Amino acid sequence: MRAVEIKPGIYWVGAIDWAVRDFHGYITPHGTSYNNYLIMDKQVTLVDTVKHDFSEYTIENIRSLVDPAKIENVVINHIENDHVSSLDRIMALCPNATIYITDRGKKALDRFFDTSHWKFQIVKTGHTLNTGTKTITFLETPMLHWPDSMMSYVKEDRLLISQDAFGQHLASAARFDDEYCDQYSVTALEHAVRDYYANILMPFGTLIKAKLAEVKKLGLEIDMIAPDHGIIWRRDPGKILQMYLDMANDKADLRVVIIYDTMWHSTEHMTIPLMQGIKSAGVDVEVVKLRSTPMSIAIKRVWESRAMLVGTPTLNNIMFPSVAEFLTHLRGLRPKNRLAGAFGSYGWGGGGVKEAYAVFKQMGLEAVEPGVEVVYRPSRDDDKKCYDFGKQFAEKTIEYHKKFDGSQANGCQTMRS
Ligand code: FEO
Repeated sequence: MRAVEIKPGIYWVGAIDWAVRDFHGYITPHGTSYNNYLIMDKQVTLVDTVKHDFSEYTIENIRSLVDPAKIENVVINHIENDHVSSLDRIMALCPNATIYITDRGKKALDRFFDTSHWKFQIVKTGHTLNTGTKTITFLETPMLHWPDSMMSYVKEDRLLISQDAFGQHLASAARFDDEYCDQYSVTALEHAVRDYYANILMPFGTLIKAKLAEVKKLGLEIDMIAPDHGIIWRRDPGKILQMYLDMANDKADLRVVIIYDTMWHSTEHMTIPLMQGIKSAGVDVEVVKLRSTPMSIAIKRVWESRAMLVGTPTLNNIMFPSVAEFLTHLRGLRPKNRLAGAFGSYGWGGGGVKEAYAVFKQMGLEAVEPGVEVVYRPSRDDDKKCYDFGKQFAEKTIEYHKKFDGSQANGCQTMRS
């Protein structure tokens, strides 16, 4: 790659990671990019860096525009390793540069590097950096998604450099939304946005709504949003802002997702009559087997659907390990406004289904109890019980869904791509 001008005098100087498929446990089938930006003004200013493995790429991109020794300012919007771990390489080339960072960012940076010989300027929301002809205004976004996080707004270009927010894990030769959508599709891009949001930003919906309201109140005019991963939004930045608002408002499809695992196919067998019962009530249904599905994809399926039915065999009186792992992961993401239920088989003693309901309670999810449990193999009577529970669960899902976004009942507006 080479530097790409995104606004007059502002360049993407990042790196594309075509090969990454596991991003700290999050499956990334389409790779990702580490985006950072160089402002070629009277004071040359670098905004963010890239993952350490790619430091040579960003340095070469910078060199194609200017001698890195001429960089006077380095803005660090977020100190997670994928954005800051080449900072020492960069600072070795411009040791007199001043680093603009939040107070929490500085404290965390001290844990990664010996920063004693670097110059810092601690910034807060509203503080500005004038680079000559451009003004960068900083906007703290704590817990979106780390305590140190902030964004940088370039007023003259109506450009918001948004760090992880509004990003997607996509490796592509396209840098902009219009280029990507012309090559692939709008839905492919939306799919990537939702995948990213579900797995990284789901816990922070309330903060996202508050921050979007703050941006509105500040009256920032935005005609481009440049995140630190994936595609830059220039055709319609309002679209991604609206998508985030919808997602932060827990928008979901009228659908039940059945998430299960199985030992000897009994719990798996139960998914069939459950699915048929759900369908009989006119509700869309999807079935996901945990050991065949990467965790991040299962999480996204749950997040897109208004309700989930979790199927677990009982093993040694507790949930099946893969189901327990899934629910632990989901609990950390703090889903809201989703209806839950459970089912499963057991041999000489139950416990798995009961434990699943206990986790729903911990998560604060409304649940339809008591679910369905069968002993050893499901009989025809058990199939009937599953069908009836599926139907009842779907009917409750319809009612529950109306409370949140009844306007999209019957799947008129789908979250799925
Ligand atoms: Fe892309 Fe929070 O790092």
